[in-house]
Amino acid sequence: MATNRTFTMVKPDAVEKNYIGGILEKINGAGYRIVAMKYTRLSAEQAGKFYEVHSERPFYGELVEYMSSGPIVAAILEKDNAVADFRTLIGATDPAEAAEGTIRAAFAESKAKNAVHGSDSDENAAIEGNFFFSQVERP
Ligand code: CMP
Repeated sequence: MATNRTFTMVKPDAVEKNYIGGILEKINGAGYRIVAMKYTRLSAEQAGKFYEVHSERPFYGELVEYMSSGPIVAAILEKDNAVADFRTLIGATDPAEAAEGTIRAAFAESKAKNAVHGSDSDENAAIEGNFFFSQVERP
């Protein structure tokens, strides 16, 4: 059964460019409620662990280096059909292919520096939320 939560990160490129407010506005505007949120910075080891599923991909090293290059904002979001609707809201991984009005079309720079992360399944949403937030931090 689908859950009503997903997990997101505002990535280092978007934090650096002061896009946190603009991105959160779009997230709230799409009907998501923020149930947990944290401004933090990942070590290379933590970024490597978070993206472990991509460890065999050619871009893994670049991804880990980039995701630990500056602060990020991590959040758990709540809404009906949270995971699928959020993927639609953020748009394609490559901003050049992201539909107009999506977060990546508005704020992303490239396939790697793509402004936001969004969970790809309910199972990963739970795993990723648990990675950043303890039980008392995610009511
Ligand atoms: P994200 O949704 O966080 O999940 C995996 C990330 O890997 C993705 O966003 C991109 O930031 C990154 N990524 C995916 N494809 C590429 C690529 N071809 N080159 C560099 N980074 C990529």
